[in-house]
Amino acid sequence: MRVVSVVGARPQFVKLAPVAHAMAAAGVEHVIVHTGQHYDPMLSDVFFRDLGIPAPDLHLGVGSGGHGAQTGAMLAALDEALPSLDPDWVLVYGDTNSTLAAALAAVKLHIPVAHLEAGLRSFNRAMPEEINRVLTDHAADLLLTPTAVGAEHLAAEGLDASTVVVGDVMTDVLLQVRDRVAGSPSPVMEELGLAEGGYSLATIHRAENTDDAARLREILDSLASVDHTVVLLAHPRLGAKCAEHGLALEDCASLRIHPPLAYPDLIASTLHARGVVTDSGGLQKEAFLLRVPCTTVRPQTEWVETVELGWNVLVEPGDALVAAASRPRPAEPAKELAHPYGDGRAAERVVEILLQRA
Ligand code: UD1
Repeated sequence: MRVVSVVGARPQFVKLAPVAHAMAAAGVEHVIVHTGQHYDPMLSDVFFRDLGIPAPDLHLGVGSGGHGAQTGAMLAALDEALPSLDPDWVLVYGDTNSTLAAALAAVKLHIPVAHLEAGLRSFNRAMPEEINRVLTDHAADLLLTPTAVGAEHLAAEGLDASTVVVGDVMTDVLLQVRDRVAGSPSPVMEELGLAEGGYSLATIHRAENTDDAARLREILDSLASVDHTVVLLAHPRLGAKCAEHGLALEDCASLRIHPPLAYPDLIASTLHARGVVTDSGGLQKEAFLLRVPCTTVRPQTEWVETVELGWNVLVEPGDALVAAASRPRPAEPAKELAHPYGDGRAAERVVEILLQRA
């Protein structure tokens, strides 16, 4: 069996890692195509290096652009590249423009498509990721969903026949890396001279939070008003949007600005943090799995279990954000609810199902 994985953006490299290892262990021929959506070394190369992912077999070098231009360039390049790779499956990950382009290219070439992390919904169609994931689910032949809630969403859209619950592959990699870095110090704590549990980590990059100058300013002001140090790990989109809006992105009050972290450093820094403030999907779940309280600057989340169990709070910027970032630790979830994202072996299940259905 030959599987072509198409990836392009930071969270996809994290998801690819356990899948690539499970493919190798099962003796599956695995071809990795990188669209080039993320090209900064800290958003791309370090993930391949730190997570032991084989170098991409093909790099499309698409780069940044508007949604239409970026997605269209990937679609054209994949339309050219996929036929000669002759895959049994094209495997697409998550909800980025790379996901949608690869699903669309493959389905039009009559190549079977499997969507990993299918069924997640925010029900907010203003998010580019929501459009990407809905369209990808409806184009794909096999829907590999992380949770029971994901399966319910797919069933509600008439897609239950192609759905399989496999667990969350990000949990696989998180648990492995957590064990690897458990004894090591927090890189940001050491670098910035912070006390154990005395800081929160923040990431803000979503279009809904960065494209509007007033909203972005309010978020930065809120982070600077938290009653302890907030280390903001600045995604390139954040820097670019601050420059465009004439906002200075620099240390002030409780706010410290830091470049993005490599994955093991992010996990080690989260383990020693008091809290996380974010609009990332992955980090909300990582904080929950590491049992660090999370404050999410979004009106909805796809990872509803984190909120239901009390470890994640959705806020608007302003007083609500500032108060939530300082709230006390919630109670440990009841034993039967404590592991909604699987047992850390989702990638093995993914490969097994692809083999069964090839
Ligand atoms: C993308 C995904 C988002 C995911 C995020 C993780 C889509 C629609 N969005 O958002 O779901 O959570 O990745 O990081 O696919 N840029 C750089 N260097 C890079 C990449 C981007 O400077 O390596 C800058 C460019 O100015 C670009 C902007 O960031 O215009 C946005 O990049 P883009 O790939 O469009 O989306 P992200 O915001 O990274």
